[in-house]
Amino acid sequence: MAEQHAELHFEGKVYKIPVVEGTENEKALDIGKLRAQSGLITLDYGYKNTGATTSAITFLDGEKGILRYRGYSIEELAEHSSFLETAYLIIYGELPTKDEYSQFVGDITKHTMVHEEVKSILDGFPSKAHPMGVLSSLIGALTAFYPNSLDPNRSGEEVNTSIIRILAKLPTLAAWTYKNEKGQPVNYPDNSLDYCSNFLKMMYAVPTDKYEPDALLSDALNKLLILHADHEQNCSTSTVRIVGSSHASLYSSVSAGVSALWGPLHGGANQAVIEMLEAIKEDGGNLAKWIAKAKDKNDPFRMMGFGHRVYKNFDPRAKIIKKAADNVLEKLGVHDPVLDIAKQLEEVALKDEYFVSRSLYPNVDFYSGIIYRALGIPTQMFTVMFAMGRLPGWIAQWKEMRENNEPIGRPRQVYTGRTQRSFVKMSDR
Ligand code: ACO
Repeated sequence: MAEQHAELHFEGKVYKIPVVEGTENEKALDIGKLRAQSGLITLDYGYKNTGATTSAITFLDGEKGILRYRGYSIEELAEHSSFLETAYLIIYGELPTKDEYSQFVGDITKHTMVHEEVKSILDGFPSKAHPMGVLSSLIGALTAFYPNSLDPNRSGEEVNTSIIRILAKLPTLAAWTYKNEKGQPVNYPDNSLDYCSNFLKMMYAVPTDKYEPDALLSDALNKLLILHADHEQNCSTSTVRIVGSSHASLYSSVSAGVSALWGPLHGGANQAVIEMLEAIKEDGGNLAKWIAKAKDKNDPFRMMGFGHRVYKNFDPRAKIIKKAADNVLEKLGVHDPVLDIAKQLEEVALKDEYFVSRSLYPNVDFYSGIIYRALGIPTQMFTVMFAMGRLPGWIAQWKEMRENNEPIGRPRQVYTGRTQRSFVKMSDR
């Protein structure tokens, strides 16, 4: 088939721009040579319409509400898979055989401990430190304990050990940030438990009580982690790829991803949603007032958990999570008034012209906080839970970028500052 191209007509010249097509028939203009040929660059604030890479990991169709990891729908994975099986799929490209899976789980289980000196680092943080800041620092600090991880160009086996280590240690680090905040002694991993139960035990066990893992809570967490496992080139994932593109280590790249995720417009929205719903409740539940605030361009308030850069119809993850939230609350016999507010808010907003005309629908973060609350996870830890879920995606995207030997990420700009002028000495100003 003849190669497709688009034509750009500019200042009397015609430039041919090659078209790249993906396996789901998505088309892109490859403008890599445009500047060399014409002196032009493209400008796209927030990369709203710019592909930074080709990728074989996650397919997302925002108009149709489709999300698939390596070709498998998240609906099927959330129903039938485990978080570690999904992690294997995302990172290595195929579902594992039985043997591959037990080897993978066994390797991860062997690496769940963290160096004792991590505790001294943790002790250095004030107990009121936000867990996301602590987590990002501790992940970056892993490079100090595993200097071989610093060079991502070492053998594939060494890189794989870094992958296993970070998957194994993140729940331990995450639970320890929580214990630091509570001022409680940390719990060591229990390798007789599965990934999610072990994490919940490290979070909740206290030395004075016997801790029994709860299958319902572990299953709910498992589902949540699967739904968060990857989401193609979002803010934190692009951060991981761009940091890794300078040949920084996996741990440094993931640590940067955690910081990018923290903001309330991205992963931090799950904490912001609950805080907003609580504020609406405290305020007497006057939804009309809060909706008016969200619509007022002079008010910085945004309806947290609504809207998405790529989903302009519905967020398929929100649909599954909403159902899971209902299930968990029903099984636990919890009645959460905040959930009632969430449901009413969704109903009112979805009929409002402002939200309809801008395609603002509830996103994954709108309901995830409600399940986390039901699981007893404190609000400040919500984004840490998101980070645990997103880890396989960050790893896979970092690995893909390195294996494709992608160049260092370095956008251009259109300069709008002052043109050259002469320095004026301070005495003359
Ligand atoms: N509340 C009120 N108005 C909104 C909201 C919202 N939550 N989201 C978007 N809008 C409005 C904007 O003001 C803008 O209106 P205008 O056209 O009249 O100026 C229009 O909708 C388009 O918004 P943009 O900011 O251009 O959309 P963008 O794609 O850049 O932003 C984002 C997407 C950041 C998610 C945004 O919808 C938002 O801030 N949502 C709330 C935060 C949130 O829930 N983030 C989690 C996203 S999911 C995730 O990251 C895991």
